[in-house]
Amino acid sequence: MVLAEQARPLSPQMSEEHEMLLAAVRDFARREIAPIAAEFDESGQFPLETVRKMGAMGLMGIEVPEEYGGAGMDTLAHVLTMIEIAKADASHSTIMSVHNSLYCYPIQVFGTERQKREWITPVASGEQIGAYSLTEPMSGSDAGNMASRARLNDAGTHYIINGRKSWVTSGPVADRLILFTMTAAEAKHRGITAFLIDTGQPGFSRGKVEPKLGIRASATSEIIFDNYACPVENVLGEVGQGFKIAMTVLDAGRIGIAAQALGIAEAAYAAALDYARQRQAFGAPIGSFQMIQQKIADMKTRIEASRALLYGAIIAKQRALAIGARYTSEASMAKLFCSETAAYVTDEAIQIHGGMGYSKEMPVERYYRDARITRIYEGTSEIQRMVIARNELGLR
Ligand code: CAA
Repeated sequence: MVLAEQARPLSPQMSEEHEMLLAAVRDFARREIAPIAAEFDESGQFPLETVRKMGAMGLMGIEVPEEYGGAGMDTLAHVLTMIEIAKADASHSTIMSVHNSLYCYPIQVFGTERQKREWITPVASGEQIGAYSLTEPMSGSDAGNMASRARLNDAGTHYIINGRKSWVTSGPVADRLILFTMTAAEAKHRGITAFLIDTGQPGFSRGKVEPKLGIRASATSEIIFDNYACPVENVLGEVGQGFKIAMTVLDAGRIGIAAQALGIAEAAYAAALDYARQRQAFGAPIGSFQMIQQKIADMKTRIEASRALLYGAIIAKQRALAIGARYTSEASMAKLFCSETAAYVTDEAIQIHGGMGYSKEMPVERYYRDARITRIYEGTSEIQRMVIARNELGLR
């Protein structure tokens, strides 16, 4: 009989290069990340050393062309990597996802040649940490309703930025970030502009670090702009195009979070399967009982359904980019379903472990906490449903 974890799910055209990458990342994640995951979760320390090693492997700029310091691979490679890293530790995968999808990708798509060379290269290599800042204390899901402001100085050389942003992944350690802020508040979302920010410049500071339930090694904080002077050449894309850039990028980011959620679910499932085989009760392994078998069957089915939606989103992205279209709905469906699967599977994994699942001695407790954020960040499940339904109904 073929064991469940040996069965190979169908995927979009795996090349030899994908297979080699998958083997290398799986080995790295098992050797270097999995053994430190619990310790970094406990301490909440940012895992800079392993992130730098991921950079050296090309994982911090996986879809970035080689000429800008990246690995020059495709979205499938990105997704396969995210799943493997998330299986070992969700925090590392969050850091990786923001670096790739929310920092490097927008500069790749909307940046000038000079911006690509100056702003992507040091981050894609993992030498510097990149971040993305959209959310504010009073605007999360309603992302266009922001209070921070940027105004052009009299000489027309710099934008002077003021305001406070919140929930910035890697905010406490970021060297560079993409900031979305209002340059013309009366134009509402069409008055938002994207800026490339060097966090070493005067006027930038970091605020409260969030004490989080999960992904605790992925540092999150507020950031504060107090008369930060951003040169006009560091505007990303057009003035007023910021909201479109933020949304375009989130479509790519949501595929990354879907992959992360699937990775967490797979890790929890593997632990539960193992436990169901080992743990004895009433004179037999608990996996021989039908109530446990039902859980195993439902967990596995939801994982494979999630994978199918995720691979569907990768194919939709490839097709959409080839014809200049969007893949918003497919990305939202993958993110919605994978994150809800992660919640379901991690919960059932704890149930299968019984009391041991509630203990920090078993990793399922961490998987459960880490999975929770995937239904919130990069658009809550409610926002994903809104996006999908609006698309189906032809509404805006
Ligand atoms: N791609 C390109 N353009 C898009 C788009 C997309 N996916 N979605 C919307 N747009 C465009 C629309 O075409 C429209 O363009 P026009 O100016 O030409 O009219 C414009 O954006 C406004 O669109 P909507 O009217 O649909 O905007 P809305 O105000 O109703 O909001 C929303 C839409 C889907 C709710 C959006 O605000 C949203 O996604 N909210 C959630 C925000 C989010 O995910 N935040 C997470 C931040 S990152 C994070 O989590 C932290 C981290 O570091 C990990």
